[in-house]
This record gives sequence, structure tokens and C-alpha cells, in this order.
Amino acid sequence: MSDPRPTAVIVLAAGEGTRMKSTTPKVLHTIGGRSLVGHAIRAARGASPERLAVVVRHQRERVAEHVSALDEDVIIVDQDEVKGTGRAVACALQALPEGLTGTVVVTYGDVPLLASETILELTAMHVEGGDAITMITAALADPTGYGRIIRGADGVVEAIVEQKDATPEQRSITEVNSGIYAFDAEFLREAIDQVESDNAQGEMYLTDVVAIARRQGLGVRADLVDDVWQTEGVNDKVQLARLGVEHNRRTVEQAMRDGAIVIDPAATWIDADVTIGPDTVVHPNTQLHGATTIGSDCVIGPDTTLTDCEVGDSASVVRTQATLAVVGVGASVGPFSYLRPGTRLGARGKIGGFVETKNAVIGEGAKVPHLTYCGDATIGAGANIGAGTIFANYDGVAKSHTTVGAHSFVGSDSVLVAPVTIADGAYVAAGSAVTRDIGAGELGISRAPQRNVEGWVARRRPGTATEAAAVLSSESAAETDAELPAVAGAAVENDQPTTDTKDARR
Ligand code: UD1
Ligand code: CA
Repeated sequence: MSDPRPTAVIVLAAGEGTRMKSTTPKVLHTIGGRSLVGHAIRAARGASPERLAVVVRHQRERVAEHVSALDEDVIIVDQDEVKGTGRAVACALQALPEGLTGTVVVTYGDVPLLASETILELTAMHVEGGDAITMITAALADPTGYGRIIRGADGVVEAIVEQKDATPEQRSITEVNSGIYAFDAEFLREAIDQVESDNAQGEMYLTDVVAIARRQGLGVRADLVDDVWQTEGVNDKVQLARLGVEHNRRTVEQAMRDGAIVIDPAATWIDADVTIGPDTVVHPNTQLHGATTIGSDCVIGPDTTLTDCEVGDSASVVRTQATLAVVGVGASVGPFSYLRPGTRLGARGKIGGFVETKNAVIGEGAKVPHLTYCGDATIGAGANIGAGTIFANYDGVAKSHTTVGAHSFVGSDSVLVAPVTIADGAYVAAGSAVTRDIGAGELGISRAPQRNVEGWVARRRPGTATEAAAVLSSESAAETDAELPAVAGAAVENDQPTTDTKDARR
């Protein structure tokens, strides 16, 4: 048997996609975090063709740039102003080497669930059969919109008739053209020049080469595919959603087969390139996007969206939104956390409730547990950031950096005004506005000393419930003092002005 690999795969992606009603070119719409044309290129590459060409025209620059970014070895082919899938293939053949022989596979850029294995099987079948054309067809309950397969009395495929050109009788045929074909290269080159545009759409149809082959007495083989999803195309946004749901169903199923525990597959969205380690539990309403990788034995979700994140083994990420963040082994994030790009949480570290981080490197075992904005920061191992701490990184013009050293302790409700450095093993008193560096072993405290004004309520809020409460409180205190003279010292201490040192103990 000769080489089962195709000599070339041509992906058609030049069409306008008017039925999408979108300013984005159809083939750039995504399912599973990958563009439709990206899926087509991926499937084609998996069949290891010698050459891979993608035909573009509509919004040429956008599509070409996208395709080249995905795969720099793709040959970008420009289709001219003549419309139709036949013209697209003719342009591609002109761009490919002249004496091309072997098998040329054509696929459509708007058929995203096609698998590489199917292309390989088709190519092998084509090589074995020795026909001019081998194609995949599908039996659809609703064949509307697709080209219909016309078979002769002997069952031999004679032609493909497009929906718009079909007679009512032909429209009742449920076997449709999937748009995935293997051609003999020499036949295709010759036949494509004979394709005309005398049809309802005035386009050069690739599908016309089937009738051309039959007129020349050449063989056309068409095999029904079992998995019809692989042949479905996206022409509008309803089909985009439908194929998106099916893509996700397949991806989630694969994740489970690879060892993930998914509580509610239908309420879990996993992009094509995401990886999840075994025994990680994914709770409902979790979306894992882009190049996200999750380790093993993690707990992810519920209600969590991770985009391009890396989560280490045994970490937990609950009710969290994160983009371009790294979560270390055994670390814990959430609930209600917002991790922006550049967040790196060290092993066994913690980012807790209502905490927003950005460009923040948080050391091993360090904790940012409650109500904090932490932007442009480096936090050392084992440090603790108290509730309500704000890293003030922006002065209205420039962003600056804050460093908190290892095992340092920042008291609650502090504001760290960047640029500022708190050394290893330092303390910040609660409620401080820190504008100057704090050295190792030092306590930084920056707030007005407390003053208690005696009798203020009685003078300024007479007759209020507050005053009544104060009167009641001092009466009962007096009674207690009378009963227990031994503890009278406590009341005396309350009368003294509070000192900074006492405050700082908190
Ligand atoms: C096409 C087939 C139809 C098949 C269906 C399967 C033809 C004439 N019809 O119909 O038999 O059942 O796909 O999904 O081939 N394209 C170009 N250049 C063009 C026109 C289209 O590159 O001038 C590309 C499009 O970007 C798209 C693909 O070819 O990726 C199919 O084009 P589309 O217009 O969607 O064809 P259908 O009407 O779906
Ligand atoms: Ca289509």
C-alpha cells in the first residue's frame, strides 16, 4: 500500500459567512476556545500532510494573520473575486507545486468537529479504492442547507446537488455532502478547470467535480460516517452554539476518562487545550479556558472561571475568577477572589475572600486572607497580610511596587503606599498608612494617637439613647466597683490616656 498520508490538505476559509450576521469572519468564531479554522487546521495537521494550505479572501488580513499565528507552516492561498468552493480549490492548486500527485484532501474551515483520524481513514480508503474521489457523507434527519448526494439506481454516486439548485424530490434526500473529500491530485487539477458557475448562486461549486468524474467514467466512492457531528458545519450562530455544546460534551467526557471528577458535566465548560490531573474535582458552573492546566487532587469550583491559569496539585480554587495566574501546590484561593494577570501564589499560600490581586508574587505559605487589593507586590514566604490591607500601587500617573518581606505581619486596615519596602520579619501596626520603608525586626506604626474625651456624650448628645446607655453603664460599673473593690484598678487604668505602645499590641 502506498503512503496513506495526504500529499496536501486544502482548508477552505475564504467564504463570507453572511448567515453569521457578524463583523467577525465566520471561521474566526470560536468553540472550545479555538477558532473554527483553528479546529480545521488542527485536524488537518493531525493527518500529517506534506503540505497544508488555507484559502482566504473575506477579511483576508485578519484570517491570514490568525492562521499564520496558529501554524506558521501553513501556505496561505488568496482566492480571487470569483466565488465558490470550486474556485477556492482552483486557487489552492495554483499555489501548490505543479506536478502534485497522490491524495489531495479538501476540508471546510467551518466544520469544527472533524477529527484527524477521520481524515486519515478517508485517505487510506481513497488510496485502497483507487477512485478519483472518495468522500464522506452523512445521513441527517434535517438535511436543510446541505448539498444532497444523488445516487444512481445501482447506488453509485452520480452528483451532488446544492440545496438552492435541488428539485423538491432531491430535497427529500437525507444523505448529504459533509464537505470532506479525498481527490486524486491529477484528476482534481483537470476537473476543477471544467467547473462552471451556471447555478442558483452563480458560484463555482467544488461539488460539480463529482458529476465530471462520472461523465469521464471514473469512480466516486462515498461512505456514510457514523459520527455525524464530525461533518456538521457552522453557518449561523444557532449552529455555532449547537456544535459548541457538543464540543464541550466531548471535552468534558475526555477529561473524566483522563481521571477528573466532574460533578455536573453539562454545567462545566472546558476548552480544547485545558488539561486536568486525576482525582481533581470540578464543581458545577466552572469554566476552564485557554491554556489552563490543573494538577491532580485539586478542588475547582463551584462558580469559577479560570483563563490561562496554572494550578498546582492539591490546590483549591473556589468561587474565583482568574486570568494568567499561577496557584501553587496545596494553595487555597477563594471564595470570591479575583486574580488578575501576573498573580503567582506560592505553595500552601492563601488568597481569601474579596481579595483582588494583580502582578503579585506571593511566597510559600504566605496569606492574604480577607478584603485586600494587592497590586504590583512581592510578598515573602510566610507573611500575613491583615484584613482590609490596600497596596496603593497607583498615584494617578505611574504604578509602583511594594515588597513585604518573609514572615512579616501587616496589621488590618493598613495602606501600603508604593513604592515601599517592608523588610523580612517586620510588623506594621493595624490601621497604618505606610509611606516609608520598615526595617527587619521593626514595627512600623503610622496613625493618629487615640484620645478619649470624657463626658463628651453627655455634653453633646444629651437626651439620646446613647447617653442613657452611657449613664446606665457607669451606674452598673459603680455598683460593681462597690461590690468588688479589689478590681477597682481596672477602672483607674481606663481613665489614663492610651499610649501608642498599648495600641500597637493589638
Ligand atoms: C458546502 C457544500 C455542500 C455541503 C456543505 C457542508 C459546496 C458548493 N457546497 O455548502 O455541498 O453540504 O458545504 O458543510 O461546496 N468557501 C471558500 N470560498 C468560497 C466559498 C466558500 O473558501 O468562495 C469556504 C467557506 O469559508 C467555508 C466552506 O468553503 O469554510 C463552505 O462554504 P459555505 O458557503 O459554508 O458552503 P455551504 O453552503 O455550507
Ligand atoms: Ca458551510
